Amino acid sequence: MNYFFLILLVIVFLIVLSIVWSTLKTGISPMMSSSKACKTMLAEIDNHEKGLLIDLGSGWGTLVIAAAQKHPNKQVIGYELSWLPWLVSKILKYSLRLDNLTLYRKDFKSAELSAASTLVCYLFPEGMVALQEKLAHEVFNQVTIVSNTFALPSCQPTRVIRLRDFYQTPIYVYHWQPK
Ligand SMILES: C[S@@+](CC[C@H](N)C(=O)[O-])C[C@H]1O[C@@H](n2cnc3c(N)ncnc32)[C@H](O)[C@@H]1O
Repeated sequence: MNYFFLILLVIVFLIVLSIVWSTLKTGISPMMSSSKACKTMLAEIDNHEKGLLIDLGSGWGTLVIAAAQKHPNKQVIGYELSWLPWLVSKILKYSLRLDNLTLYRKDFKSAELSAASTLVCYLFPEGMVALQEKLAHEVFNQVTIVSNTFALPSCQPTRVIRLRDFYQTPIYVYHWQPK
């Protein structure tokens, strides 16, 4: 075995380890939204809504980059905890010169959401509970929420779109109104 192969093996091992570690820590892997899901979610975003578009857990950047490209006049933000997907999405952002996109390596639970007009996410049940609590306590304006696969636990969606894929993946759309 030569040194080059050994170094490559160590790098691959560290990458896998980092993804497994962050999956255990956050509760979900950095799985990307499918192209059908991205297209459907982006179609639900109103370009005329003033305010930030935020991806809560932007992963490798699949959805947040497509959103920033489709809406060049909107300020788009992504929060991601897992460092490798975040780094890759940062590199893509600079390669594609997306000046309207900001990517933070940060927990969305400690992020400021009050300036958002649209939230997109592909989280997991506990993540949706955390989001609902955050909305109830911190968001005092109307917000459109588009969620891939997972619903908010006690909030009625405005509509549910079923993707024409193997799992008939649901896309939940909410028009959140503060109480
Ligand atoms: C299933 S991926 C979705 C990625 C991307 N939004 C998409 O649709 O392609 C979910 C991502 O959320 C991230 N995540 C989970 N909890 C988070 C949190 N509290 N703050 C920031 N990111 C989080 C995970 O690390 C993971 O990369």
